[in-house]
Amino acid sequence: MTYILESLITKKAANGTSTYEPISSVWEGNDGDLLEEMFKFYATIPPEPILDATYNAGRFWKGSTRDVVSMDIDPKYKPMIVGDNRKMKGVPSAKFGIVVYDPPHVGPQGRDKSRKRFDVDFGATMECGGDQDWSLSYLYPDFLKQAKRVLKPDGLLLAKITDMVNNHRSKWPHCDFMRMAEDAGFTVCDLIVKIRKGPMVSTKWKTAHHARKRHCFWIICRNGDNCER
Ligand SMILES: C[S@@+](CC[C@H](N)C(=O)[O-])C[C@H]1O[C@@H](n2cnc3c(N)ncnc32)[C@H](O)[C@@H]1O
Repeated sequence: MTYILESLITKKAANGTSTYEPISSVWEGNDGDLLEEMFKFYATIPPEPILDATYNAGRFWKGSTRDVVSMDIDPKYKPMIVGDNRKMKGVPSAKFGIVVYDPPHVGPQGRDKSRKRFDVDFGATMECGGDQDWSLSYLYPDFLKQAKRVLKPDGLLLAKITDMVNNHRSKWPHCDFMRMAEDAGFTVCDLIVKIRKGPMVSTKWKTAHHARKRHCFWIICRNGDNCER
C-alpha cells in the first residue's frame, strides 16, 4: 500500500504536475472563503461537524452548506447552544473536527445609542476595564481548555483575533492567544493576516494616536503534537 502511494506521488511529479499548493499568509477576501481555504489546506481529519463557539449573526456561514453547530452566550442570536464557551456545558468531548472562535475584541464602548450599536456589531459586551488589565485575553484560557476537550484528536482550532488599543495602551491579544494556546496543549501552526478595506471606526474616537488597524489575525492551532500534514 505504501509502495503504491509512493509510486502515485512520483508519477504525478514525473508528469510535471506540481503538488505544491501553498496558502498565502495574507488574505484580502471574506472570512467565509478563507475558512474554506483553511479547511482544505490544514485539515487532516474531516472538518465536520464544526463548532462556531462565538456565532453572533453567523456571518461566516452565509451561503455555506457546512454542518455547523452554533454557540453564543447571548440568546438573542438564537444559536443552537446558548452557553458560555468557557464552560461548554453539555457539549460532548472529542466531537468536532473544527472549532471556530471569533471573540469580542473590544470592551463595551459606552451607553449612548451609536455606541450601543457599535457594541452589538462588534460583540463588545464583555468586561474589559482595570480589573481585566484593559484586555480581553482573560477570556482565552478557559475557552482553550474547552476547545481542546470538544475537538477530536488532530482537529483544528481556528481563531480570529484582533489587536486593540485600550486605555491608551496597545494590547496584543494575538500574542496572548498563541502563548495560551500552546500552554493549553495545542500546536500553533500558522498565523494568517486578514486585511479589510476600511478600518474600524467609532464616533468616540476624536484624535489618532496609533496606526488605525486594518487587519486582524487568523490563528491556526492543531489539537495534536505537530503541524506538518
Ligand atoms: C465578534 S462577535 C462574533 C461574530 C461572528 N463571527 C459573525 O461573523 O457573525 C463575538 C460573539 O461572541 C459572543 N460571546 C462573547 N463571549 C462569549 C462566551 N463566553 N461564550 C459564548 N459566546 C460569547 C458574543 O455574544 C458575540 O455574539
